[in-house]
Amino acid sequence: IYRSTTSTTLPTFLLVGPSGSGKTSLLTLFERGQPATTRTSQTPLTVELSLPLTTPAASSQYRSAADPSTQFHKKFLLADTPGHGKLRHHAFDTIIKPQNLKGIIFMVDAADISTSTSTTGAAGNEALRQTAEYLHDLLLLLQKRANTKTSRAPPDIPVLIAANKLDLFTALPAPLVKSALETEITNVRNSRGKGLLDSGIGMDDIAGGAGEEREWLGEGGEGKFTFGQMEESNVQVSVVGWNVVGAEGPDVQGWWAWVGENL
Ligand code: GTP
Ligand code: MG
Repeated sequence: IYRSTTSTTLPTFLLVGPSGSGKTSLLTLFERGQPATTRTSQTPLTVELSLPLTTPAASSQYRSAADPSTQFHKKFLLADTPGHGKLRHHAFDTIIKPQNLKGIIFMVDAADISTSTSTTGAAGNEALRQTAEYLHDLLLLLQKRANTKTSRAPPDIPVLIAANKLDLFTALPAPLVKSALETEITNVRNSRGKGLLDSGIGMDDIAGGAGEEREWLGEGGEGKFTFGQMEESNVQVSVVGWNVVGAEGPDVQGWWAWVGENL
């Protein structure tokens, strides 16, 4: 007669980012110990994972090593979403109705966004632009979420920008991924501010905000957007480089450390 509704959901990390950046590869790596062959995702997929005992978890830092609870694996959920532009509502839905959401991993193909604009000139870098648009919309959603006037402040949600595919020699190193995205988000912000671009995700519908309200990511003014401006909305953005696949094997230690810090 009654359906049991689990009142406590495991801590959840959301995996988002453009199509082909390696989200499902990461999920299969953690699920099976090695990345499986993937096809582009059309539906979200959530798996239960455990933090390795060797990775410190923030929630255990005040426990002594003798405390038996530190001997157990910390369990959490990893929620993979499709990167295709028309399916991103899955990712945004999870942020609007968060179930114990602890953090968001935004995956970037660091080789894809590096394809040089300087040689081709005016055409610009389409992959970088699309990645920056997705990230802009995500951060704007988090900013609006933080500024929503409720009796209880929503919990902070940190964002990890994973510069993936660093095994490829064309990949941009993490600090350059960071500055390329900040510059391109500045461009996205300026075009959105001028109303030249349609956000395409119906920000007004999902946030229930006033349509007239001007939406501006980060600090006002004509200056450059930096990820540090998100701290005002209690959103900590970090950029870490790794690779899920590669001749030398996967290198995702930075990911485990970040999950541990936020678990
Ligand atoms: P959507 O489901 O379409 O959103 O894409 P996705 O982000 O899930 O990408 P997916 O995991 O399917 O990976 C896309 C391709 O990138 C696959 O061919 C992977 O093998 C490859 N790939 C993923 N990670 C890496 C990496 O670290 N290095 C290299 N060289 N290739 C990678
Ligand atoms: Mg996928």
